[in-house]
Amino acid sequence: MSVQTKIAPADAKSAKHDTPKTTNKKVLAFVDEAKALFKPDNVYWCDGSKEEYQAMLKALVDGGTAIWLNPEKRPNSILVRSDPKDVARVEDQTYICSKSKDDAGPTNNWFDPTEMKKTLTKLYDGAMAGRAMYVVPYSMGPVGSPIAGIGVMVTDSAYAVANMHIMTRVGDTVWKALGDSEDFVRGMHTVGYPLSTPTTADVPWPCNENKYISHFPETREIWSYGSGYGGNALLGKKCHALRIASVKARDEGWMAEHMLILKLTNPEGKSKFIAAAFPSACGKTNLAMLNPTIPGWKAETIGDDICWMKFGEDGRLYAINPETGFFGVAPGTSNESNYNAMKTLHANCIYSNVALTDDGDVWWEQMGTTPEHTIDWMRRNWTPNSGRTAAHANARFTAPAAQCPVIAPEWEDPKGVPIDAILFGGRRATVVPLVTEARDWKHGTFLGSIMASEKTAAASGVKGDIRRDPMAMLPFCGYHMGDYFAHWLKMGEKGGNKMPKIFYVNWFRKNGDGKFMWPGYAENSRVLKWIFERCDGKADAVDTPIGKVPADGAIDVKGVKVDPADMKAMTTVDKEGWKAEIPLIKEHFETFGARLPQGLKDELAALEKSLS
Ligand code: GTP
Ligand code: SPV
Ligand code: MN
Repeated sequence: MSVQTKIAPADAKSAKHDTPKTTNKKVLAFVDEAKALFKPDNVYWCDGSKEEYQAMLKALVDGGTAIWLNPEKRPNSILVRSDPKDVARVEDQTYICSKSKDDAGPTNNWFDPTEMKKTLTKLYDGAMAGRAMYVVPYSMGPVGSPIAGIGVMVTDSAYAVANMHIMTRVGDTVWKALGDSEDFVRGMHTVGYPLSTPTTADVPWPCNENKYISHFPETREIWSYGSGYGGNALLGKKCHALRIASVKARDEGWMAEHMLILKLTNPEGKSKFIAAAFPSACGKTNLAMLNPTIPGWKAETIGDDICWMKFGEDGRLYAINPETGFFGVAPGTSNESNYNAMKTLHANCIYSNVALTDDGDVWWEQMGTTPEHTIDWMRRNWTPNSGRTAAHANARFTAPAAQCPVIAPEWEDPKGVPIDAILFGGRRATVVPLVTEARDWKHGTFLGSIMASEKTAAASGVKGDIRRDPMAMLPFCGYHMGDYFAHWLKMGEKGGNKMPKIFYVNWFRKNGDGKFMWPGYAENSRVLKWIFERCDGKADAVDTPIGKVPADGAIDVKGVKVDPADMKAMTTVDKEGWKAEIPLIKEHFETFGARLPQGLKDELAALEKSLS
């Protein structure tokens, strides 16, 4: 490998960037500490400007990390290929370092905070040698919104900085909003690849085999080491907006959830806001941007991954999308499956681990016509006969949300949008119906707590075919999951009858031939219509032991091909299948011990009784 130039913009040491833009003493102390520890060549204070974004892209290209795509095909867009050992979130190496092990709970990897800091301090010592340390002030949510939160991240990755520019609100307005406050999340990130001597060669994707994605919920800190990819490195996303924020939300009485947010408008012009929690790579981006196939209905996007909700003055739950971009799964995205995502990707995007076509464009599996030749994500020649995929299964695009053709006008409203319905869903080939309406908030919390899903490529090293993933938060809840359930129940008690209605959906039922029973994607609008109308007390439903399912013919399937037998199977309750679930749910619940709330035990007992 040739000696690469160090990946920092040419003006990294100019006065424009080496002086702090804040007088906040806590920030200055934090940055000083980080500098003393990491020993970077220089400190670069990010201002969030367009010029800065362009300088980052240029530095990535000059350094050999990225290449420009053909400007006629994808203007102002780059392709990045990561180290093959750094391609997804690493749940095995993700830690919750609360003082007490019990507070992290049975679903998190716990580590003593003092011990973790000792270990990481050793690894952090000099880890940025030969590199720039970027200081990134960011806001999750519209700057100044009562629901938003601020973070300050230091990193040695220009790739992380460029992504943070798209995914969050970076810039001097954040310093202004923060003022002298101590209320910000401190994030320290390094790829763990120091350039120890002036002649040490850099590599296109510096990272370390040793990875630690560590969270200190009590002190609102994130220490991330060794990875440059996605949720491991873009600290505003899963680390801050879910793991740390879930703890903050518990303490302060609000909710930080792994949910998309969409606005649905019926033919009469009446709108509702729907949030939906599906596990990683289970359809949030797709649902967030769908074009309804039923005449007269309209859907618009607020967010595709994360949702923060607080009670408004009227007692309802108001939600914001803390992000400003989409870090979406590329494979499977096409004009047919997600037209609006494809339109969003027309320019100004970062592509990670997709294939490069001979005319300098990107390609991934199921994008459209298969090219005869590409350079695959591992920089090798690829043809359709290669016997492997051209893009990595967790290849991603980073795209500005504002470019989405169906972005809702309210998407940046600082007061948020009032949520009418919450959906839970996962990949379940059997048992779980197409849609089930919970009887009330408590029952809905129960349905969320027993969610399970087949594994996907979004996380490395996940064991087993199906895992329980309560509220799609298994990898993202920063505290004891039993306490998290209790927090959901408490929120319900507080909100009373103003809480959103809860539904459990499953787009992934399969028939005997292993084919999906439900066409999914844009056709999910048919289920959304039923949900919309149920919120108004319309549309027909049938009571069952697990909740209300659509009555015969209540889901509008005019103009779509669904086998009537499949439709029947998807909307009736498989009693034997549910009976077989009961011991599995019990086993799942037992893991939470004494912290499992009585309310959920009652729901399980009621379900068992009604099935017998
Ligand atoms: P993260 O970004 O990892 O949180 O994922 P996500 O939940 O946003 O998932 P996304 O919408 O990117 O969907 C991932 C994959 O799920 C897509 O590439 C599709 O292959 C598949 N998918 C999404 N929606 C549907 C659907 O309605 N039916 C079927 N069968 N597959 C779907
Ligand atoms: C997920 O895995 O749920 C993602 C991608 O949204 S990452 O940012 O890597 O967490
Ligand atoms: Mn996600």
